Amino acid sequence: MIIAIDGPAASGKGTLGKRLADHFGLEHLDTGLLYRAVARVLLDQGTPLTDRDAATVAAENLDVSHLDDPRLRGAEMGEAASVVSAYQPVRDALLAFQRQFGVQEPGAVLDGRDIGTVVCPQADVKLFITASAEERARRRHRELLNRGEETDYETILRDIRRRDERDINRSTAPLKAAEDALTLDTTHLDADETFQAALVLVEGRI
Ligand code: C5P
Repeated sequence: MIIAIDGPAASGKGTLGKRLADHFGLEHLDTGLLYRAVARVLLDQGTPLTDRDAATVAAENLDVSHLDDPRLRGAEMGEAASVVSAYQPVRDALLAFQRQFGVQEPGAVLDGRDIGTVVCPQADVKLFITASAEERARRRHRELLNRGEETDYETILRDIRRRDERDINRSTAPLKAAEDALTLDTTHLDADETFQAALVLVEGRI
């Protein structure tokens, strides 16, 4: 079984993906971490994010055993990831790993921006998770404060809007719901309510 979850930044895809994977006994991949890891390699090398060839080499040689590096989770890495993720050769280089992850037994949950449209168009269930930009900024703000990071709401909201704009309008694998995706607006739902609502949608499809 493959469950594909797509949606904008800070929509709660990762939390939901993990809970669905635990519930159904499936593996989980947060595909945003792959793009974050590519951006991390460039930053560590001192290479500008605009260097498409260097980003491609980094993606082709990516060591996927370090995706749990906490340095990948910061807000600035999301922004950097959205720059390198717009390069088609970078996306191509990361595709085989994601597809292989999807077809393992007993199945997998993948979350990202193009899982239902590009990576796993054959997924059994496709969810498109949304929430207003203001609510996503509030959640991200709370999360960063809890982690002890200094941050302010207005900056986060601006970053989220900029990232949405970049992810939606890029020519390669833009963020959009697959035609057969089920959309779940979580603006007024907490993590538990989101999980329960998603469970109803998933069980209706399997
Ligand atoms: O989901 P997350 O915020 O970690 O993703 C970081 C960035 O990576 C996104 O803003 C997006 O540009 C890119 N991304 C992507 N395709 C995916 C997952 C993430 O382009 N499947």
